[in-house]
Amino acid sequence: MFEKIGVVGFGLMGTQIAQFFAQQGLEVVAVDVDENALKKGMEAIKTGRFGLQRLVEKGKISEEEMNDILSRITTSTQYKSIEECDLIIEAVFENIDLKLKVLKEADSIAEGAVIGSNTSSISITKLSSAVSNPEKFLGIHFFNPAQIQRLVELIRGLLTDEKLIGEIKEWFIKLGKVPIVVNDSPGFATSRLGLILGKEAMLMLQEGVATPQDIDIGMMLGYGYSMGPIETGDLVGLDTRLRIYEAMYEATKDPKWAPPKLLVQLVDAGYLGDPSVKPGSKGGVYEYFGQERATQVLKKLG
Ligand SMILES: NC(=O)c1ccc[n+]([C@@H]2O[C@H](COP(=O)([O-])OP(=O)(O)OC[C@H]3O[C@@H](n4cnc5c(N)ncnc54)[C@H](O)[C@@H]3O)[C@@H](O)[C@H]2O)c1
Repeated sequence: MFEKIGVVGFGLMGTQIAQFFAQQGLEVVAVDVDENALKKGMEAIKTGRFGLQRLVEKGKISEEEMNDILSRITTSTQYKSIEECDLIIEAVFENIDLKLKVLKEADSIAEGAVIGSNTSSISITKLSSAVSNPEKFLGIHFFNPAQIQRLVELIRGLLTDEKLIGEIKEWFIKLGKVPIVVNDSPGFATSRLGLILGKEAMLMLQEGVATPQDIDIGMMLGYGYSMGPIETGDLVGLDTRLRIYEAMYEATKDPKWAPPKLLVQLVDAGYLGDPSVKPGSKGGVYEYFGQERATQVLKKLG
């Protein structure tokens, strides 16, 4: 359906999304204003925790296939390079004003392209006001790590073409994903529930109810989660989580979305999340509390 994918914002999610599409045989052009993000992003795709080198080591792909995948991804600091893309995925910071600006620019360059935002929470209808064809705009919400997680949440804005939603849904199924379709509403379906769980877990830490490890193991074994809410927050990135709470609060003015104090303090102190996926981070909640991650503990226990 699409042949050349433009990814705007090459941070944690942008790199994962680019890797996913390149692994599916598609050409990808990634744009970021930060040269260092482009460098770090390509490193993550090659040698990162969910990168291609690991797949080679596991015998899932050959060295030659790895090089082919890498050759399908080009990076640039110039928006002009997305000119010929037929699908653009926007994955910049979770900030409405920044996203509106970026979408306007991308739309003016990749004329006629379908544009999807990877936003976790911001109104798709509002974001669609920045583009010339709002009927060709939708939410395409990937999950971290996007190369592995099967879920893709498709969000229809007020003006999104229903036929397009159906076609994109079918396309993702062919690419091995499992799409769900959700109407535009703050936090959609997944973030709305995930953020509540994450916030309550953070408040429990603030109150000293239990350690991160015990809270997460409780949810994993008690409720069948593959990862607990605190480890998930570390993987998402605590700075990104904070931006998402702020965006939800701004959109709804509902105090339930006010970010928990501990989260704000951790971000202020440089704890931006799991260092294996967040370059430059001092650590996540687990490093701050000096604990081994719950998934590792359970792996060892068998
Ligand atoms: N982290 C997650 O687990 C996760 C999961 C699903 C969705 N999301 C959403 O994906 C988006 C990106 O999140 P992330 O975790 O990748 O954040 P990130 O902080 O890792 O990356 C954001 C990137 O955007 C770039 N950027 C900033 N301004 C730009 C501009 N004007 N033009 C181009 N690039 C620009 C930054 O340099 C940075 O590299 C957010 O909307 C977030 O809510 C995140």
